[in-house]
Amino acid sequence: MEQLLNQIEAFKKEINAFSATDEKQVEDFRIKYLGTKGIVKAIMGEMKNVAAENKKEAGQLLNEFKVFVETKYAELKDSTVNGQASADSTIDLSLPGDALPIGSRHPVVLMRNRIVSIFQRLGFAVAEGPEIEDDWHNFGALNLPAHHPARDMQDTFYIQQNPDWVLRTHTSNVQIREMEKGKLPIRMIMPGRVYRNETVSARSHCFFHQVEGLYIDENVSFADLKQTLYFFVKEMYGKDVKVRFRPSYFPFTEPSAEMDVSCFICGGSGCNICKKTGWVEILGCGMVHPNVLSNCNIDPAKYTGFAFGMGIERPAMLKYGINDIRLFSENDVRFLKQFTSAI
Ligand code: PHE
Repeated sequence: MEQLLNQIEAFKKEINAFSATDEKQVEDFRIKYLGTKGIVKAIMGEMKNVAAENKKEAGQLLNEFKVFVETKYAELKDSTVNGQASADSTIDLSLPGDALPIGSRHPVVLMRNRIVSIFQRLGFAVAEGPEIEDDWHNFGALNLPAHHPARDMQDTFYIQQNPDWVLRTHTSNVQIREMEKGKLPIRMIMPGRVYRNETVSARSHCFFHQVEGLYIDENVSFADLKQTLYFFVKEMYGKDVKVRFRPSYFPFTEPSAEMDVSCFICGGSGCNICKKTGWVEILGCGMVHPNVLSNCNIDPAKYTGFAFGMGIERPAMLKYGINDIRLFSENDVRFLKQFTSAI
């Protein structure tokens, strides 16, 4: 027993004095003390020579010794693997690190966020809905019954397996879904991707993005629509931009209008972007058609509302001077990394 104690004490001294500067030395330590033919194992083997009455005490001592060696091993490992850098005086920790490559937001997302945030300041909440939609939500409920000629205003992709399903042609489907929920008033903005069966070219694509807005309450008037959109335009294009409304037609709004802003490239004097007219068309709008309200179980005698919808790609192209809409969906990093903020 005495002998065992002395042995352990001697090894402890040796171990305490041990230091390692690289991983190889740490591994040598492990083999010497903790390996299958190591010192801990050997001392454990001494147990059989210990007198029966001392076995309990000796067992405890050996266990403590084992834990002691294991702790030391863990410390050594830690200090060589993790501590090498800090121990090495040639490294200057005050130097700035390597720059991490970070991604950038897509220009369509930048423009969408910009548009959405302006309406959020007016109290509009964001709503989203499905891109694969049934006929009712994309057309029927929006006052476009089957065979209505205005269905041809938007070339539609139909889903082969189920002719009742389409790829939504506008985000107006979300308006219907929100109205169906039956919670009034509604003050919502609906950003999203839409699809139309158009020939892909520099100017048009078979999918693009829209933001639509919907406001329904008692006593909502065309004046509210105009003021809301005036606010939007001033925030978006600046205080000096002029606005004009042209009468238009949408089956789901009555009366309907399209809104132009004075060309923000040439300031209204006429350029290629505005086709020398001085005006750029930016959105469609109108008062929600009473049929649409009835289709969603909203009483048109009590409630009125306005809706508007605009594309995102076009203002983004004008803003950034992008001349080909296809660039948005080609995932070319050289293109994508150029955009940092909208407006
Ligand atoms: N849904 C129309 C479109 O995609 C835009 C619009 C929305 C027009 C709301 C008027 C009111 O062309």
